[in-house]
Amino acid sequence: MNDLLSLKQAFLDDLSAVSDITDLQQLKAKYTGRKGLVTAQLKALSTVPPEERPLFGKAVNELKLFVDQTIDQKEESLKDIEKQKRLHAEKIDITLPGKPSHAGRFHPLNRVLQEIKDIFVSMGFGIEEGPEVELDYYNFEALNIPRHHPARDMQDTFYVSDDVVLRTHTSPVQVRVMEKKRPPLKIIAPGKVYRCDADISHTPMFHQVEGLMVDAGISFSDLKGVLELFIQSFFGKDTPVRFRPSYFPFTEPSAEVDIGCIFCTGKGCRVCKTTGWLEVMGCGMVNPKVFEMSGYSSDEYTGFAFGMGVERLTMLKYAIDDIRLFYENDLRFLRQF
Ligand code: FA5
Ligand code: MG
Repeated sequence: MNDLLSLKQAFLDDLSAVSDITDLQQLKAKYTGRKGLVTAQLKALSTVPPEERPLFGKAVNELKLFVDQTIDQKEESLKDIEKQKRLHAEKIDITLPGKPSHAGRFHPLNRVLQEIKDIFVSMGFGIEEGPEVELDYYNFEALNIPRHHPARDMQDTFYVSDDVVLRTHTSPVQVRVMEKKRPPLKIIAPGKVYRCDADISHTPMFHQVEGLMVDAGISFSDLKGVLELFIQSFFGKDTPVRFRPSYFPFTEPSAEVDIGCIFCTGKGCRVCKTTGWLEVMGCGMVNPKVFEMSGYSSDEYTGFAFGMGVERLTMLKYAIDDIRLFYENDLRFLRQF
């Protein structure tokens, strides 16, 4: 009986040193495991003289029950402490600053394209589209550029077959629209075009916006008025504009539109090749031959057309010096817009 008392005391001493579940499992093995000290006492019962057995048996069983219950309670409280610790460690500090998420945005070319469309729509122009894989007829022939005409070399062409090309400009849409509709016509035609061309200001795919206005009595001053208003809306009110004589087979007379160099404000620099001017688009009065091929009477109608490079306008507006930046998908570049 004294052994049982000191065993209980030893158990309580050991228990007070237990600080986690692992300690507790060791304690459990030490006292009530298969080779545990309390278990040994239970086994010893059979060696106790029969007259002492009931008393001793009762005491051993009470001890066993006490040890089991104490261990269970301890386990509960240890688990509770560990849960509290874990909750504390995992606590979320809602006062910490959040991680910023980057909102998506339009590509600079799409923004500029939208701006160009808005300006022309506000002047009453409608929007048309045409195919990127185009018949040679619409891309060249109907625009007064027959086979073997030297003007074909102005635009290096990707041929799909003898009669089919990737359109080299948006001008074929002029013809497609005139075949379908009667004057008055006032449209722009934005879209992708393709040329076998690549350097810091040329890519094999780029974007143009075509414009076409046809009616009785349209003159070169209408052309100048519309394009000057466009350029001042797009680049700012005081932007100098000039019309420089040029050549396109589908317009006559033809002009190139220049704006005062935005990099040197006209003083002359490397970008404008010291001229003080930068080309932004081609334009002219629709060639009567084009009208006739599209089924319009050139006695009745006159009109003007223009074609601008969207990449070119974007580069000038944001002072970007390499066209390839638009297609590299570098987020550091794209997030600036
Ligand atoms: C034309 O394409 C004519 N169709 C424009 C036109 C329309 C004139 C209607 C008269 C009437 P041009 O080849 O110059 O013209 O191209 C027009 C613009 O496209 C150029 O000013 C330039 O900004 C842009 N461009 C031409 N080639 C490339 C290229 N490889 N990469 C990027 N932009 C280009
Ligand atoms: Mg040109």
